[in-house]
Amino acid sequence: MGGRVLSVASEAVPFIKTGGLADVVGALPAALAGAGWQMRVLLPAYRSLRPLLDSMTPVWTEGALFGGAAQVFHGQVQGIDLLLLDAPHLYDREGGPYTGPSGDWWDNAQRFAALSWVAARMAREGVGGWKPDILHAHDWQAGFAPAYLRYHGAGGVKSVLTIHNIAFQGWADARLMSDLRLPLDQFHPGGLEYYGNLSSLKAGLVTADKITTVSPTYAEELMRPEFGMGLQGVMAARKADVLGILNGVDTTIWDPAAEPTPYSGRALAGKATARAALCARFGVDVPGPLAIVVSRLTDQKGIDLLPATIPDFVAAGGGLVILGSGDPALEHAMRDLAQAHPGRVALHVGYDETLSHQLFAGGDAVLVPSRFEPCGLTQMYGLRYGTLPVVSATGGLADTVIGASPATLASGAATGIVFHPTDALALGQALRKLVALYADRKLWGQMQKTAMTHPVGWDASAAAYAALYQGLSQ
Ligand code: ADP
Ligand code: GLC
Repeated sequence: MGGRVLSVASEAVPFIKTGGLADVVGALPAALAGAGWQMRVLLPAYRSLRPLLDSMTPVWTEGALFGGAAQVFHGQVQGIDLLLLDAPHLYDREGGPYTGPSGDWWDNAQRFAALSWVAARMAREGVGGWKPDILHAHDWQAGFAPAYLRYHGAGGVKSVLTIHNIAFQGWADARLMSDLRLPLDQFHPGGLEYYGNLSSLKAGLVTADKITTVSPTYAEELMRPEFGMGLQGVMAARKADVLGILNGVDTTIWDPAAEPTPYSGRALAGKATARAALCARFGVDVPGPLAIVVSRLTDQKGIDLLPATIPDFVAAGGGLVILGSGDPALEHAMRDLAQAHPGRVALHVGYDETLSHQLFAGGDAVLVPSRFEPCGLTQMYGLRYGTLPVVSATGGLADTVIGASPATLASGAATGIVFHPTDALALGQALRKLVALYADRKLWGQMQKTAMTHPVGWDASAAAYAALYQGLSQ
C-alpha cells in the first residue's frame, strides 16, 4: 500500500499563501505520510522564495520554457519535500503570485502552463530516479498538467485534479493553443474549448483521471448552474469521477491549548482571559456575544451583508472585530461600520496570522456568511476554539457545522448557527439567535464543549485521499 505523489500548486504553507489553498497543499504531505504516501510539492520559485534555492539541489533543466530557460531545485525545506521551479523570466517579479502593480500578470496563462508542463514532464519521466504514481494538480494554476499527461504521454502516471474554487478558471485566449503546447484538434466543446476560449481548469477537468473538490456538498453544488459558474455541464459529464473530500485543519497550529492563555473544552477560563485581551487591544466593550470575521473581503464571503445586519446586532448587545483585506469598496464599508459603532465594532485591515489566532481565541462566534464556500477553514478553527460558527448553509460550511435547532439543542449535537439563504434577512435572524443562545450560559457552554470535540483534523480526509490514490494506482 502507498506510493508516491507529485503535488503541483501555486501556493503552499509555509512558503506562500493567499488563501486556504495554501493551507491545504501545505498540510497534505504530512497528512498522507501516515497512510504511506510520499508527497513532493512543486511550486514556482517566486521572488520571495528564491533565497531557499541556496540550500537546494538542481535536479532538472528545461531549455525553453515559454520564453526562457528554467531549472528545478529539490530539497527538504521546513518539513516539506519541496521542488521549486526557477524560471526567472516568469516568476522573479515584485508582486503577488497572480498579480502585479496593475492587476493580473499579463502572462498568467504562460506562467502557470509552465508550472504544469514541468510537473507533467517530471511525473512522466521521473526526476532524479524519483517517479510518482500520481500527479495531483490543484486548481486552475495546475489545470494544464493532467492535459499535458493526456496529450503528450502519461508514462503510467495517473492524475487527480482538485477544485478548491471553481470561480477561478484560468481563462486564456484560444490563439495561445499552440504556444501552450496544446493539440489544435482538441479545440472543441467536448475538449479544450471554453466559450470560444481556453480555460486551464476546464482542460484539467476533461483530462484528469479523477476530480476531487474540497467538500461533499460543494461536489454536488458544482453540477448546478448557480455554483458551477459555466462548468456545471463539464462537471455533470464527469460525475462518476468526482469526489468531495473535506479539508482538515492543522490541529497543532490551531490548538487552543497552545495559545498564550491556554484553554480547553473542560477548562474555558483561558478563553475568558483571551476575550478580555482582545477587547482591550481593539478598544471594544461588548456585553453580549463578541463576533469575529477573519476573511478575504470579497463578494464570495458575503461581507457586504454586514452593514445591513450588524447595527441591530450591536443594539442587542453584540460586538464585532474584523480582520481582513481585499476589495477596496468592502474595506471602505467595513471602516464606515467600525466608525459608526465605536467601542463595539473594530477593524484591522491587513493579513496577520498572529492576530487571527488572537481573534479565534478571544471571540465568542465567527461569522462566515459566504455566498458559496467550497470548504472554508475558519469555521473549523471556530469549532476547535469554541468560537461558535455562524455560517450560511453552503458547501463545506454545511458539511462541518451542526446548526442549532430545538432538536439539535435538545440532543446536544448543535455546534453553531446555520442560516439560509445568504441574505441580510437570514443573517439578521441568525445574529438574533446568536444573542439569545449566548444569553443562556449553560446552553452556550454545552455547545462550546460539543464544538470543541468535533473532529476537524486530517485523519478521515487523509484516508479518503489515500483510498483514491490507491484505487488509481492499481
Ligand atoms: P479562502 O481560501 O476562500 O480565502 P478559507 O477559509 O479556505 O477561504 O481559507 C482562508 C485562510 O486564510 C484561513 O487560514 C484564514 O484564517 C486565512 N485568512 C484569511 N484572511 C486573513 C487575514 N486577514 N489575516 C490572517 N489570516 C487570514
Ligand atoms: C478555496 C475556497 C475555500 C477552501 C480553500 C481550500 O480558497 O474558497 O472554501 O477552503 O480553497 O480548499
